[in-house]
Amino acid sequence: MISKTLVVYYSKNGSSKYLAQRLGRELLCDVEPLVPRINSFFTVLLGLTLGLKKIRVNVEDYNKIIICSPIWMGQLLSPVRSFINKYSNNATKCYLALSCASSEESKNDKFGYNTVIKKFEELTGDKFVSAHAFSVLKVIPPSNAKNDDIIMKTTFNDENFKNVILNEFSDFIEIINAT
Ligand SMILES: Cc1cc2nc3c(=O)[nH]c(=O)nc-3n(C[C@H](O)[C@H](O)[C@H](O)COP(=O)(O)O)c2cc1C
Repeated sequence: MISKTLVVYYSKNGSSKYLAQRLGRELLCDVEPLVPRINSFFTVLLGLTLGLKKIRVNVEDYNKIIICSPIWMGQLLSPVRSFINKYSNNATKCYLALSCASSEESKNDKFGYNTVIKKFEELTGDKFVSAHAFSVLKVIPPSNAKNDDIIMKTTFNDENFKNVILNEFSDFIEIINAT
């Protein structure tokens, strides 16, 4: 079977969208947004999205699916859960690219990225292949590393997506291509 890849994303401030579009560019694949039926920050935060609007492509046509999403309050967000629940019958390989603001030291905490990756693994089961958390902390200069206001306002862009985070991204692409 020829490998066909789809990137889907949910994003409020743009970092997950940036990851999705950059993955789409590098993997030369389709990129589609996940749009909740009730699309407001608070309903998504509370997990009350009542499913997704129709996606423009036929998801069954793809065998590799990469989902990009932020972490909010240590949650695997409802648009992501809705997407997986709806399409989990398809024979696909699932990947997760998180954008987050948690550090490596706090990755196993309640709001840390490992907690979210674990939930994704549980939900995708044997379709799970790989997940990576891209932290905005990696693009913030050390002098602002503890400034919560700056951390929450920082989003990925072509200017700051360099060095460590770009290496992590390249490793993630390599895994996708190799699996
Ligand atoms: C309400 C809210 C809750 C958040 N909770 C977490 C969290 O629990 N863990 C974490 O690592 N980052 C957390 N973040 C940071 C976001 O995951 C991070 O800013 C992400 O890059 C935003 O992605 P976006 O630009 O695609 O919306 C939170 C952000 C917001 C706005």
